[in-house]
Amino acid sequence: MLLLLLSCTATMSFGTMDVYLNEIENNLQSILYNEEEDQENETWKMYMERKNIVLEFLHSDLSLHLLKRHHKRIELLKKCSYYIEILPKHLALGDQNHLMLPTTMLQLIDPWRFQRMKKVGTVQTKIQLLLLTDLLEQLEQGREELVHFLETYDMVTFLARWDLVKQKLSNLSELMDNFLAMLVPGRLYVKHRLVSDVGATKIPHIRLVLSTKMPVMFDRKESMAHEDWVSLKWFITSQQSQPEQYELRFKLLEPRTQQERIQCGIMPVTSNMCEIRNLLSDRSYRFTVKRAETYTLVYEQWRDAITLKTKPYPDEDMESTMGEP
Ligand SMILES: *[C@@H]1O[C@H](CO)[C@@H](O)[C@H](O)[C@H]1NC(C)=O
Ligand SMILES: *[C@@H]1O[C@H](CO)[C@@H](O)[C@H](O)[C@H]1NC(C)=O
Repeated sequence: MLLLLLSCTATMSFGTMDVYLNEIENNLQSILYNEEEDQENETWKMYMERKNIVLEFLHSDLSLHLLKRHHKRIELLKKCSYYIEILPKHLALGDQNHLMLPTTMLQLIDPWRFQRMKKVGTVQTKIQLLLLTDLLEQLEQGREELVHFLETYDMVTFLARWDLVKQKLSNLSELMDNFLAMLVPGRLYVKHRLVSDVGATKIPHIRLVLSTKMPVMFDRKESMAHEDWVSLKWFITSQQSQPEQYELRFKLLEPRTQQERIQCGIMPVTSNMCEIRNLLSDRSYRFTVKRAETYTLVYEQWRDAITLKTKPYPDEDMESTMGEP
């Protein structure tokens, strides 16, 4: 381009030389400027592309919406009941054919070893719940860092630290994979054989998995107090509930006399509703419900609780104030 301009100007007369020299200089500058701009455009393009990679990650895997959902999921998992499920080794979870087998197997299993296995299950569940909480915190922190990079780094800084940002993205991506894998309760690590050789002609291959049951929760609309009785109802979220055994507890809050202290109790219930009678009127009671313990239960930390206040009898207000010393 420069040569071309020079050869053009060479044919001009000397009088116009200065003008053209100026023009050359301008052209030259414009070419250089364009090259610089080109370079800048390239850098800018790269910056935008890389920035978009981060933005996309923030909007997909690490989106606030998704993190919130994971939070809810963990809260739910903390309220679940965990059981050891005994499966023949070759069958997958959910396979209908194994329905008869586990009970038979349970009879073959050494009870003492099974008790130990349950302890392992409890510990594993606790650790899993702690790890999930921790992983989610790390993910949230990672998200904040990425947002911070985007908001505070200018183009040059951002590009200079791209390797670090890239590493961060890949670390977070791996963390997310671990997190998602852990959301599903896993297999139990069986250290010892659970079946004694004695008596069993053919030792079955078994595997143990942790299974969850959704939490039992009071139906707060349908549970209500009357003057001297309450009717309570509960349900299990997102699960077609088969008949189960529950354990209901109640307790009078702030008993005023020794006699009132016996206003409490534990009752087994086989349906998902129950009435408790002979309560005191105009008083607060606390009720809790959970599944009745079974042999394979390994972890159940949470139980739902509600407080209901019985109604006063229509004209009791006056009488009781008058009757009080
Ligand atoms: C740089 O990019 C802008 C807009 O993206 C464009 O208008 C301009 O022509 C580009 N410059 C060069 C030298 O390519
Ligand atoms: C990514 O993870 C590795 C290994 O855990 C760690 O050493 C490194 O510091 C992490 N990088 C960033 C940017 O977080």
